[in-house]
Amino acid sequence: MGVTIIIGGQWGDEGKGKVTDALAARAHMVVRPNGSTNAGHTVQTPAGIYKFHLVPSGVLYPGCDCVIGAGVAIPPADLLDEIEDLTGRGIDMSSLYISDRANIIMPFHPLQDQLEETQRGSNNIGTTLRGNGPAYADKAGRRGIRMADLLDERALVERLNLIIPEKNVLLTSLYNQPPLDISELLEQFTAYGEKLAPRVVSSEMMVQDAIDAGKSVIIEGAQAAMLDIDYGTYPYVTSTSPTAAGACQGAGIGPTQVSNVVSVYKAYTTRVGGGPYPTELDEETGDLLRRRGAEFGTTTGRPRRTGWFDGVAARYTARLNGVTHVAITKLDILDPLPEIQVCVGYELDGQVVHSPHAIAETYGRVKPLFETLPGWQEDTSQLTSYDQLPTNARRYIDRLEEIIGAPVVMIGLGPSREQLLWRREVDFA
Ligand code: GDP
Ligand code: IMO
Ligand code: MG
Repeated sequence: MGVTIIIGGQWGDEGKGKVTDALAARAHMVVRPNGSTNAGHTVQTPAGIYKFHLVPSGVLYPGCDCVIGAGVAIPPADLLDEIEDLTGRGIDMSSLYISDRANIIMPFHPLQDQLEETQRGSNNIGTTLRGNGPAYADKAGRRGIRMADLLDERALVERLNLIIPEKNVLLTSLYNQPPLDISELLEQFTAYGEKLAPRVVSSEMMVQDAIDAGKSVIIEGAQAAMLDIDYGTYPYVTSTSPTAAGACQGAGIGPTQVSNVVSVYKAYTTRVGGGPYPTELDEETGDLLRRRGAEFGTTTGRPRRTGWFDGVAARYTARLNGVTHVAITKLDILDPLPEIQVCVGYELDGQVVHSPHAIAETYGRVKPLFETLPGWQEDTSQLTSYDQLPTNARRYIDRLEEIIGAPVVMIGLGPSREQLLWRREVDFA
């Protein structure tokens, strides 16, 4: 029994949804602590492919409580669509709960996201344009509207009257946009509130009660540590803390309540959007990884940038997050390669460095120092136990484990639920 946090150890899309699904099979609760519809978490089962954006990936298991925590920013219309879609696919959505403290993504947030990106010109971040940055900026600026406000007309009127006139100044004078109408927003968001009301709870109390009752809780982080607002490749990052510490905050628990931190890494790397990426491959091998790995964004469909495994970034994020266990996904994508490169250091202005530089432009100048490992050139996708992996594949995993500095316990060999092998069985329940 205990709390297990799952985080991304690279730049996102590592397979957190798949790992969450695996652990959720034996969990009582799965909590999403951060992010919004910028996240896209894929789970593939015999019943079909599910792409979760706001709903925790534990929802496929009847009886598993799924909680959207206070750290998530929610566009209500998208959440209602996601619930309806899953219900239509026969998924029991009765155990989905939403924090009353979660901030709301309002219609002006995606608009502002787009306008800010346009303003940045060639320095744009490549955001998902879902309104995350502006919504979290408003949360920090104390201009947010929260789920609880949608359930209390008086509170909502008060918040709209305070916030919208200020937004209108920004929209009309800076961005040349029409002003927002308070009464329209009131009507629209009261209606969303009525629909979502039965699911709205003090989620942090629900999580604490589950812990007190000795239940097993999985916290499914979105995004990844290299996209963290403090420790990622700022400003080419998301607007939250997708770290283990951020997961605690978003779920409403303290660090002493956490038993395990599982970091998910791809056997190589990908990144969507702009920003430095030392091990990026922009030739044939990069295309091969993109094609074999179907590296196109789950949320936006954008082609993902691809590169070799970055051991410097991987070790950095493992240390930042106090990682206790590691899952390596997509090992199968490397199957045909005769040789595989792993970055074990960076060269910057003639010096060897072992951590990402704080300034994105400087970090963009580092030259990766590679170690070459032999490939295995065998199809691994049908293997059913770790021992069956080719020797060179096991060597590759051993080396990644050494570099990351935490034990690798799970290996992904394909997108399906069953294509996840235990290297060492761990009881996370
Ligand atoms: P998340 O955001 O971290 O949950 O990851 P995404 O779902 O955005 O992206 C991961 C993609 O890789 C999805 O399409 C998964 O179905 C797929 N995937 C996950 N694990 C594996 C694996 O071990 N092998 C292969 N080939 N695909 C995988
Ligand atoms: P999951 O949970 C990959 C990236 C965007 C952009 C930057 C900022 O599926 O791993 P934002 O819209 O958050 O302001 O965009 O962060 N990004 C992700 N990249 N996976 C994600 O989520 C991401 N969420 C945000 O591409 O570079
Ligand atoms: Mg994703």
